[in-house]
Amino acid sequence: MKPITKAVFPVAGLGTRFLPATKASPKEMMPVVDKPLIQFAVEEAVEAGITDMIFVTGRSKRAIEDHFDKAYELETELDLRGKTAMLDLLRNIVPKNINCIYIRQAEALGLGHAVLCAKPIIGDEPFAVLLADDLIDGDPPVLRQMVDAYGFYNCSLLGVQDVARADTASYGIVAARPIADRLEQVSAIVEKPKPAQAPSTLAVVGRYILTPRVFHHLENGKAGSGGEIQLTDGIASLLVEQQVLAYRYRGVRYDCGSKLGYLQAMVEFGVRHAEVGEQFREYLARRGENGAAAKPQTAAIAPLPRARAETHQLTGNA
Ligand code: UTP
Repeated sequence: MKPITKAVFPVAGLGTRFLPATKASPKEMMPVVDKPLIQFAVEEAVEAGITDMIFVTGRSKRAIEDHFDKAYELETELDLRGKTAMLDLLRNIVPKNINCIYIRQAEALGLGHAVLCAKPIIGDEPFAVLLADDLIDGDPPVLRQMVDAYGFYNCSLLGVQDVARADTASYGIVAARPIADRLEQVSAIVEKPKPAQAPSTLAVVGRYILTPRVFHHLENGKAGSGGEIQLTDGIASLLVEQQVLAYRYRGVRYDCGSKLGYLQAMVEFGVRHAEVGEQFREYLARRGENGAAAKPQTAAIAPLPRARAETHQLTGNA
């Protein structure tokens, strides 16, 4: 059995739900407090033993390449100012043994098409797919959980969770029967079914482990509405010939592709943040349950010491 060492990050979507923020900058670079969504996803992949990070990018996505590249001017400046902690933080964004590979998806022809763009790099190996806008807080991280399950079952796995029936039209929904703790055998998968037509309420989220055979099905499948090639359709065709399992991950998911989910993630990661968590918790407590805005923060939150304020200006995360 081949170990999973490659992960695909499809980041070529248009991000229309976050316009105008995503007009010229990638949705995946939106920060949760001070870390971009794509970095959360890459860190999750690293913890799952992935060494080759394959980004399927599109127009307006240069910032993602820059983020995982060396920032000479910034590093030199931080070095000159003796800001070693910040320098280490920047230098460790990508661990030494990790390769970052970029492919362009010329047109946003769907998630399935984006995954297919990675075929020449993946070759004949099983691989992971992570959608960075699904930020999942898991311990161990969800992809690690799935790689472990793959080690046992040696087949494609889909990260799933139960959703409200009213929400099925926002997800790929599976028909499945339980076979082990957290694992279900998938017999069908449908893209965004209306609540009345959904085969269940078990929804696929942005974590997949797929066998390379899925490429054959993506290549030979028909494009759906708007000429898009759906990953769901490729998986539906794959499961006719290979076992596909649904994995009920352990963790909390924030749908950061939606404004509400993004705001929730910001609050939850904000209250735990090492630097500002305590003050943020105090702010939320003062704000109260009735949702009334708290008094101006200057009264309760001490100004940043000068050195830290400078650092924030340099990194642009003030
Ligand atoms: P979404 O359905 O969230 O689409 O794509 P989107 O364009 O990013 O955002 P909205 O809905 O317009 O606001 C799911 C994932 O698939 C990628 C996206 O970047 C996202 O990570 N994707 C989608 C591609 O890489 N290429 C595509 O053609 C479509």
